[in-house]
Amino acid sequence: MILVTGGAGFIGSNFILDWLQHETTEILNLDKLTYAGNLANLAAASTDPRYQFVRGDIGDFSLVARLLREQQPSALVHFAAESHVDRSIRGPGEFIKTNINGTFTLLEAAREYWSQLPAAQRDQFKFLHVSTDEVYGSLDAADAPFTELHRYSPNSPYSASKAASDHLVRAYFQTYGLPTLTTNSSNNYGPLQFPEKLIPLMILNGIAGRPLPIYGDGLHRRDWIYVRDHCAALRAVLARGRLGETYNIGGGYEADNLNIVHSICELLDELEPAPTLESHAGLIAFVPDRPGHDRRYAIDANKINGELAWQPAETFASGLRKTVNWYRANREWVAQIQSGAYRDWIALQYGR
Ligand code: NAD
Ligand code: TYD
Repeated sequence: MILVTGGAGFIGSNFILDWLQHETTEILNLDKLTYAGNLANLAAASTDPRYQFVRGDIGDFSLVARLLREQQPSALVHFAAESHVDRSIRGPGEFIKTNINGTFTLLEAAREYWSQLPAAQRDQFKFLHVSTDEVYGSLDAADAPFTELHRYSPNSPYSASKAASDHLVRAYFQTYGLPTLTTNSSNNYGPLQFPEKLIPLMILNGIAGRPLPIYGDGLHRRDWIYVRDHCAALRAVLARGRLGETYNIGGGYEADNLNIVHSICELLDELEPAPTLESHAGLIAFVPDRPGHDRRYAIDANKINGELAWQPAETFASGLRKTVNWYRANREWVAQIQSGAYRDWIALQYGR
């Protein structure tokens, strides 16, 4: 079996659903269920006898150590984190606690467990740390995309906390020989993403006829990957990645935010025509920029493409259409999220 942390969040829940489709191994999901964790994401897994859930904090050493001892996983896949840059700007404390101290606690528990395993099991065990391209900081327009050798230069409390966790993972490999793997992925989008992030926020605001808030001039660029392509890449890294290595994962589609929002508006014009709007693009509203806003991220995915023969299956056009249709078809999921603490966040971040 494998132990997944943060499996009730966006990427973690997609990973669990994808894993149960493609693999036979059992999964235990350890998640604290913060505002971002949602067991409704895992409704389809909950009836699968191979899936178990435990509510708990990765910072609780005795809980993690006990789960490892009792369940004897052959791998630990670590998603649990505070993940939203804007929230890290308003309150960095939880980011330090979960992303740095939590990862440290998990590494300690994994080291204790792994070092006491019988040799055959010890040789099998892997710790896969799921991280972000944001640790590399911001690129200029003419710079080459990030390779795995790019200098770390994080600019937000979120990316700094993820960078710290990446360094800890590296140190546990170098110092203790803990069999680690690290992935640095670009911006994910797809079903089950909490609508505080750009793409689901714009889809839902657009459907509701609310403003589409673009930070600054909207020319900040990101590489976008469909979440299930990321999940397939993680399975490839777990199966065939070289221990101690890091792998960049990207969707091969770089665009600025305005461009992304225009693509969403075109789909909404087609799928959700609004009688009072000529185009959803009329809802675009420029708002003050995010402090420290990284101008550009771009991924060089040659290492994972070449070594592990992984390529994204979706184009941005096909992935975005699936995503828009998923949010259109899952109004109950959306309503449940929008009824909770989400409203307070939207009011705090965007005012009226
Ligand atoms: P998310 O915010 O949707 O989900 C995070 C999950 O972690 C939630 O289920 C939450 O309840 C859980 N969690 C938070 N603190 C916890 C704790 N102390 N103990 C146990 N569980 C806890 O995040 P996501 O977008 O799914 O991202 C998952 C991972 O992938 C993160 O590590 C993130 O840094 C990384 N990542 C995300 C993206 C992206 O575009 N979303 C891109 C690259 C990397
Ligand atoms: P986001 O989804 O928060 O991901 P990240 O900051 O981790 O890349 O934001 C993606 C881009 O969209 C980023 O450049 C900030 C911008 N953005 C807006 O312009 N308006 C918004 O309301 C949000 C949430 C993001």
